[in-house]
Amino acid sequence: MSSKHAKRQVALRKERFLRFGVIGAGGMGQGYCRILGTLPHARLAAVCDVNRSAAEEVGRKFGVPSFCDHREMIKAKVCDAAAIVTPHPFHYQPAMDCMNAGLHVISEKPLTERVSTADRMAAAAKKNGVVFAVMFQRRLEPAICKALDLIHSGQLGEIFRATLMVLEYRNQCYYNSGVWRATWKGEGGGVMMNQAPHMMDLFVQFCGLPSAVFGRTCTRMHAIEVEDQAEAMLKFPNGGVGYLYCSTCETGPGQMIELFGEKGKLVLRDGEMSFYQFRPGIRSHIKNCDDMWAKPDVFQVPLNIPQVRPSDTDYEAPFQVVQESQPGHAKVLANMVRHILFGESLATPGASGIGSLELANAITLSSHEGRWINLPISRSKYDALLNQLQRESKFVKKAVQVKRMTDPRLGA
Ligand SMILES: NC(=O)c1ccc[n+]([C@@H]2O[C@H](COP(=O)([O-])OP(=O)(O)OC[C@H]3O[C@@H](n4cnc5c(N)ncnc54)[C@H](O)[C@@H]3O)[C@@H](O)[C@H]2O)c1
Repeated sequence: MSSKHAKRQVALRKERFLRFGVIGAGGMGQGYCRILGTLPHARLAAVCDVNRSAAEEVGRKFGVPSFCDHREMIKAKVCDAAAIVTPHPFHYQPAMDCMNAGLHVISEKPLTERVSTADRMAAAAKKNGVVFAVMFQRRLEPAICKALDLIHSGQLGEIFRATLMVLEYRNQCYYNSGVWRATWKGEGGGVMMNQAPHMMDLFVQFCGLPSAVFGRTCTRMHAIEVEDQAEAMLKFPNGGVGYLYCSTCETGPGQMIELFGEKGKLVLRDGEMSFYQFRPGIRSHIKNCDDMWAKPDVFQVPLNIPQVRPSDTDYEAPFQVVQESQPGHAKVLANMVRHILFGESLATPGASGIGSLELANAITLSSHEGRWINLPISRSKYDALLNQLQRESKFVKKAVQVKRMTDPRLGA
C-alpha cells in the first residue's frame, strides 16, 4: 500500500464515514443508492453510468454528482469506496481502476464472467491494501449462518454427497429487458452466470469446490444464445459425489441444497432448513452392525436460528433498525463499512467469490469439451473458449425493451 493510501485509511477511521461511488446506475445500482442514503457511517457521494442520461437522471434524483466514465469519478476524488453494479463482464475494469487508485471496492455477483479476471481483482486488492468485497448477500441470512456453523463445527462429519438444485424461472420478457442479458458478450454465460450464482456460492461455502466436473449445458426454452439449463456430476477430493442442476425454465418448489455426511444430513429446501443426525455414524454402522436389515437411527434436530447475527449489535450505530427494514444488500454493505471503519470481520471477501465462478466456468468448459474437467481449471483454456464464443456470436437480440428494474423481491 502506498503511504498516500495508508494515510487516507487512517483519516477514514477518524472521520468515521465512507463516501461511496456507485458505478452502474441501473436497476440494482439505484438500489445501492437508496441503501447508501440510509446506512450509518456511509454516504452516497457519486454515481457513474456509461449511459449519460441514466447517470444524470440518477445523480439528480439522489443529489450527487454524476459521471459517465468511472475514471473521471476516480479523478474527482469524491469517493473512498466504489460499488460496481454494471453487467458482469464490466465489473473487472472499473474494479481494477478503483483499487489501483486506492478505493475500496464491492463488486456485484458474479465477480466477473471468467476466473482469470477474478484472480486479478483479488490480487489487485492485496497489492493495493484495499478492502475487496463481493455481494453475496444470502450468506448473511440467519439460516445460512446456522448451516455454515453446523458444517464447520463438524456436526455433519465428512460429506459424502452434495446436491444443488437451482430453479430460477425467467420468462422471455425478462431476457428482452436488456441488450446485454443472456449473451456471451454481455454476460459471458446464462443461468450459471446470472441467476444461479447465489445458490452456487452457498453450495461452495458449504462443501468446498469439487476436484472434477462433468457438465452439460443447453438452451432449452428461451430465445437466447447462452444456457438456460445446466447440469453436472461432481467429484470431491475425498471421493464424495455431487449433482448440480440449474434452470431458468423450471418453477414451483424444489430449490434445494442437500448434504449427506457421516454424522447427519442437512436439507435446505425452498427456504426451510432441516438437520438430521445419524446414530451411530454411517461408517461405523456399515462396519459394525450385526442385524442385517438395521439402519442407523435418524433424529431430526430442532434448530434454534437466531435472527440477528451477534456482530449486528456490536457497534454504536443501531444496525438492528436497518436490518429489520432493509434487505440483504444493506447487511453486506453495512458489514463492509464496519469492517473498514471498526474492524468487524468481513463476511463476503471478494476472493471468496471466486469459487462459484470457477465451478460455473468448469461446467461450461466440460460441456464444450464433452469430458471431465479437473479443478482448478486452466485459466487460459477457459479464456480461449469464452473469447471464441464471444467472437463467433451471431445471435441478434430481437424485441429488446430496456427496463432498468431489479427483482422487486430483493427490496433494494
Ligand atoms: N446480488 C443480487 O441479488 C443482484 C440482483 C440483481 C442484479 N445483480 C447484479 O448487478 C449487476 C447489474 O445488474 P442490473 O440488473 O442492475 O442491470 P441493469 O441493466 O439494470 O444496469 C446496468 C447498468 O450498468 C451500466 N453500465 C454498463 N457498463 C458500464 C460501465 N463500464 N461503467 C458504468 N456503467 C456501466 C448500464 O448502462 C446500466 O445502466 C449484474 O452484475 C447483476 O448480476 C445482483
